[in-house]
Amino acid sequence: MKRIIRRGLLMLVAVFVVVIVGCAPQGTEKGSDAAQSATQVNASAPQTVEGDVVFVNTSRDPKGNTYAMGEAFLEGVPHKTIFLNDYKIYQLGQHFEGDQFNDVVQMLSKADVIVIGTPVYWHMMSGGLKTFIDRLYELDRPVAALQGKKLYFLMQGMSPSEETKKQLPYTMSRVANRYDMEYMGAATSMADMKELQDTLRNHLR
Ligand SMILES: Cc1cc2nc3c(=O)[nH]c(=O)nc-3n(C[C@H](O)[C@H](O)[C@H](O)COP(=O)(O)O)c2cc1C
Repeated sequence: MKRIIRRGLLMLVAVFVVVIVGCAPQGTEKGSDAAQSATQVNASAPQTVEGDVVFVNTSRDPKGNTYAMGEAFLEGVPHKTIFLNDYKIYQLGQHFEGDQFNDVVQMLSKADVIVIGTPVYWHMMSGGLKTFIDRLYELDRPVAALQGKKLYFLMQGMSPSEETKKQLPYTMSRVANRYDMEYMGAATSMADMKELQDTLRNHLR
């Protein structure tokens, strides 16, 4: 009788072990599925950007007016584009998993010339650009990835005020200064970018 009970107990333990071992790989698979779907969010976004000129489009719209201004500005100039909203860049002070701020900074390190374009939203730069420059504060200076880069700034809006046209370039010039970049100037609409375009073409020559 005792032997039967012992055998029964042994069988129960064996079944228990099989169930536990059988579940373990499933759990891991679920984890990697989640990671995969997280990276799928921006599967088409570049993970590296090599080349001299990079255009950072900080609009809500990958093919909107900021994009149009950037493309017109860089007409004939080979360049790569980073659409900032393709990346998860949380607000300064938010610490969530999957943040890609450092990835974007590293991508910028591959370029010699950085052209940042923003729409005017509520008399300011886009929230994406504001968050990005806020986040630079997290980095220890000097930031090798940015040092020595030439920074061109493009902004456009429906009808930006004179204050906005002064304030945004001023802010970007301060960012350039703080991170040892060379601020090359700003264009505040498609109509007034010729001078800055000439500057770019001269320096790329
Ligand atoms: C939320 C929001 C706020 C805006 N605020 C302003 C503004 O303060 N001044 C302005 O001139 N245009 C403003 N606009 C208009 C945009 O700047 C304009 O449509 C711009 O061309 C949009 O560029 P995009 O296509 O790259 O987004 C605003 C648009 C949005 C969506």
